[in-house]
Amino acid sequence: MNKPLIIVAGKNGQLGYELQRLHNSYAQQFNFLFVGREELDLNNIHSIINFFQQNKPSYFINCAAYTAVDKAETEKDSSFNINALAVGELAKQCAAINCKFITVSTDYVFDGTKNTPYETTDATYPLNQYGHSKREGELLAIKNNKEAIIIRTSWVYSSYGNNFVKTMLRLMKEKESINVVSDQIGSPTYAKDLADAIMQIVNYFTTHNSQLTTTIYHYSNEGVISWYDFAKEIQSLSGLSCKVNPIPSSQYPTPAKRPFFTAMSKELIANDFQLKIKNWKESLKECLAELGYL
Ligand SMILES: NC(=O)c1ccc[n+]([C@@H]2O[C@H](COP(=O)([O-])OP(=O)(O)OC[C@H]3O[C@@H](n4cnc5c(N)ncnc54)[C@H](OP(=O)(O)O)[C@@H]3O)[C@@H](O)[C@H]2O)c1
Repeated sequence: MNKPLIIVAGKNGQLGYELQRLHNSYAQQFNFLFVGREELDLNNIHSIINFFQQNKPSYFINCAAYTAVDKAETEKDSSFNINALAVGELAKQCAAINCKFITVSTDYVFDGTKNTPYETTDATYPLNQYGHSKREGELLAIKNNKEAIIIRTSWVYSSYGNNFVKTMLRLMKEKESINVVSDQIGSPTYAKDLADAIMQIVNYFTTHNSQLTTTIYHYSNEGVISWYDFAKEIQSLSGLSCKVNPIPSSQYPTPAKRPFFTAMSKELIANDFQLKIKNWKESLKECLAELGYL
């Protein structure tokens, strides 16, 4: 019997890379095809249509996105094409061939005015263009594909690619002290853990004739912290001698406005797919060990 084909878009991003690393553990059950923008350009609807004329996967995992939050403020068209229109088209193409569509969204769909974790049903009010484009992508995915799975995540890092952890390690090596914002609160996500969770979700759908009605889920590591707390832990675990100072966001202006509080409730994803979600400190240790710091 032919194995189901899983296509992963965004193979060169943090999450795409972690899925590539993981895929050997699933090679007995699935065939995999990892694609980047050369094979599938999300800035071009024709590229998506042509791609699906040639490829008929059983699962499509979209890890590609326009992720430059500040640049998106001036590159509105590209961010909207990639994060909204392309996601809608991918969802549509998947629905037409009965392929399970899984795509990733962001905590930045929220305005951050709550002080308890956001539920998947809470109202969204993106504060910046990136969040707006991702929210439009969610809405188009749901409109075009009733069985789409959307996983909102936050503060993604990995030993691969550009992210907060690697930037902090570099700055901590270069400087005697650094300032990090302490009034933006959320939860880090180790891309390897999210990749694991996504494969467990795919596995779930192969073994259950699913009656799930949910389309939007939240996923991050456990724990609610500030960027400052995150930086302090990176410093303490890595043993680098740099001093980390807390500052308010008002002292670190950025082109895109950020929400102050974006912790998200993960109860739904944990219950529906029987996921065990690791604490952020445990996963940070794993990443630092991989980077040679522990
Ligand atoms: N990073 C975070 O902190 C964060 C937070 C919340 C949510 N998320 C979401 O989590 C998901 C995974 O994020 P990530 O951190 O793994 O992202 P990432 O490392 O920035 O990777 C994004 C990937 O998308 C690809 N891409 C960009 N434009 C494309 C296009 N026109 N066509 C095809 N591919 C294109 C990039 O390709 P190139 O390598 O060729 O540039 C890159 O490989 C995304 O949906 C993101 O919005 C991320």
